[in-house]
Amino acid sequence: MSTNLAVIGGDGIGPEVVAEGLKVLGAVLPGVSTTDYDLGARRYHATGEVLPDSVQDELAGHDAILLGAVGDPGVPPGVLERGLLLKLRFAFDHFVNLRPARLYPGVSSPLNGVKPGDIDFVVVREGTEGLYVGAGGVLAKGTPREVATEESLNSRSGVERVIRDAYARAAARPRRKLTLVHKNNVLVNAGNLWARTFAEVGKEFPDVATDYLHVDAASMFFITQPQRFDVVVTDNLFGDILTDIAAAISGGIGLAASGNINPTKAFPSMFEPVHGSAPDIAGQGIADPTATILSVALLLQHLGHTEAAEKVENAVADDLAAREPGVPVRTAEVGDRIASRVS
Ligand code: NAI
Ligand code: MG
Repeated sequence: MSTNLAVIGGDGIGPEVVAEGLKVLGAVLPGVSTTDYDLGARRYHATGEVLPDSVQDELAGHDAILLGAVGDPGVPPGVLERGLLLKLRFAFDHFVNLRPARLYPGVSSPLNGVKPGDIDFVVVREGTEGLYVGAGGVLAKGTPREVATEESLNSRSGVERVIRDAYARAAARPRRKLTLVHKNNVLVNAGNLWARTFAEVGKEFPDVATDYLHVDAASMFFITQPQRFDVVVTDNLFGDILTDIAAAISGGIGLAASGNINPTKAFPSMFEPVHGSAPDIAGQGIADPTATILSVALLLQHLGHTEAAEKVENAVADDLAAREPGVPVRTAEVGDRIASRVS
């Protein structure tokens, strides 16, 4: 059966980088059928709509979603994040937010003395619970007595499923090491649930070596000893922050890929570059599409096209290694070069 892909180019550089992702996808796996969805700031400004229910239902019928980026400075904060991105993550139960960090040869890291190979880890961030569920409220808004709360929700089943997924990913990698990151010395309720579940699920994976770090120490070690990480599992907020550090140390925002994954495949998973719509460079043809192309590799991996996924990753590695330092990127040329390497 052929793959049905929903495509949300979005705003700014989103459609530009997605075009290159699709170019590479078409070259490595011909015959994928795609449907474009007009969502994001442009649609919001034109119609006031963010994610109509009918569109959500249509998206649910696809095998996967490829997203560029949504947003522009004219949209109030939260409208698209909560109304589109988080809504899809919750509705489609994307409980694994997967963010690989790898320093490719030819790419410079802001860290001194770090070589390709020193950074090669993946963060499994919980995607449907924690502080991001919107459990909170506000009292006496706008007065000196204003009180605002934001609660972190952690369910045993929610924590267990993401931890089990992370163990399985670690077990499939050569180093087989899994690090739990939390703050269980202070956040004792949630932290204890995470630590206990981590230990219990670990019994199913005797070959996986385990480690625990508080999030502040982990932030430091991402910078000072990135070599110590293989697979990292953590909650929604810690993962959001840690993965920006991971992107920064491994070549920056133009290379950082992500997947919002429902491993049960009950709903489509969504793959997207970590970066936003970059209005400052939109329309100039200079956005680096590599993050989107690497997100396509994650998509292929998720759908079981392992060989195609590896081809794309290797082609990206070759392209990065062949780049001349200081020469600006042309979006379409990167896509052309990688597409020709995989076809
Ligand atoms: P951004 O990621 O769009 O841009 C940050 C900086 O990185 C800019 O200088 C930009 O030119 C550069 N940059 C980003 N992607 C690049 C690429 N592929 N190649 C070369 N340079 C690149 O973040 P910013 O400026 O905070 O947000 C811009 C808009 O994007 C906002 O409306 C924001 O809400 C939205 N956004 C959307 C996301 C999504 O759709 N998942 C994620 C982050 C931001
Ligand atoms: Mg973020």
